[in-house]
Amino acid sequence: MLHLNQVTKRYGALTALDGVSLHVAPGEFFALLGPNGAGKSTLMSLVAGLRPVDGGVLTLDGVAITTADPSTRVALGLVPQHLALYPELNAEQNLRIFGELYGLRGPLLRDRIEEALAAVQLTDRRKDQVKTFSEGMQRRLNLVAALLHRPKFLLCDEPTVGVDPQSRNAIFEYLARLNREGLTIVYSTHYMEEATRLCSRIGIIDHGKILALGTLDELLTKLPFEEEIRFPSVATTTALAAQLSASGELSTFDGTHRFRPRPDCKLSAFYTLTESLGLPARLFTSQRPTLEALFLHLTGRNLRE
Ligand SMILES: Nc1ncnc2c1ncn2[C@@H]1O[C@H](COP(=O)(O)OP(=O)(O)OP(=O)(O)O)[C@@H](O)[C@H]1O
Ligand SMILES: [Mg+2]
Repeated sequence: MLHLNQVTKRYGALTALDGVSLHVAPGEFFALLGPNGAGKSTLMSLVAGLRPVDGGVLTLDGVAITTADPSTRVALGLVPQHLALYPELNAEQNLRIFGELYGLRGPLLRDRIEEALAAVQLTDRRKDQVKTFSEGMQRRLNLVAALLHRPKFLLCDEPTVGVDPQSRNAIFEYLARLNREGLTIVYSTHYMEEATRLCSRIGIIDHGKILALGTLDELLTKLPFEEEIRFPSVATTTALAAQLSASGELSTFDGTHRFRPRPDCKLSAFYTLTESLGLPARLFTSQRPTLEALFLHLTGRNLRE
């Protein structure tokens, strides 16, 4: 469905996307996971045909995406990261404007507006000015505004930023349902929990480059360790930490040591060592690796630094 081949985008001297290649198949729920400034919104804007590329090729269903040709633009919906609503107008008026932009008129437009409001539980707020809405309600409206023309392909750029857990769940469930019904979705986020929970395939992006691409399980096999042991960084664990660096990767954040044993380092040896140092077992928790750990491994940084 969507293909990007060696796509590059520059803003002056800054290279925001650097030779990005990826494909998204019909029906996929694809996550673009990366920290601030990674290039997620830039990628979305290129796919939406809002900005020209500086190099490479993008196609949607085999048709080249360009800023000049609106045909690919109408085949997709874009939920922009920054709310694209008219705060002085009410919910219904906002949807009407978006629907008309996509050429919907008359009873069809009315029906679609009804469905959209109902889908995100805003029917009873339809006559209220959008500026009186909570952030979560505005996000929900922003989402359905992109779907009025029933695109086959949806770009969601961090649609849950600033949203309370309840609205967040409502958005997740709605997107999951649309995906089950056949909508192909590209979803950008800097929350690994969202990428893990929602998406069938994940691309990790940083500094304009795709660093890793695959299902969650495929990505986690790229880590050179199978689990991570965490323990507090306190005076009593200093000696342990000093000894561990020889048998794996040790990093420290927020007062917590994270130890990732090398594959040849036996956990039994680790626990023998902690016992000999007189450290109680309750200090240690062991965890399956996460995308966060993979990001750290690939970049040397935390996803949310
Ligand atoms: N219009 C612009 N003009 C100049 N530089 C830009 C512009 N838009 C983005 N950039 C730069 O391009 C890089 C990628 O930005 P982009 O907005 O695509 O990142 P992002 O992954 O969406 O980040 P965030 O998670 O903060 O939304 C950043 O270094 C940013 O400063
Ligand atoms: Mg962005």
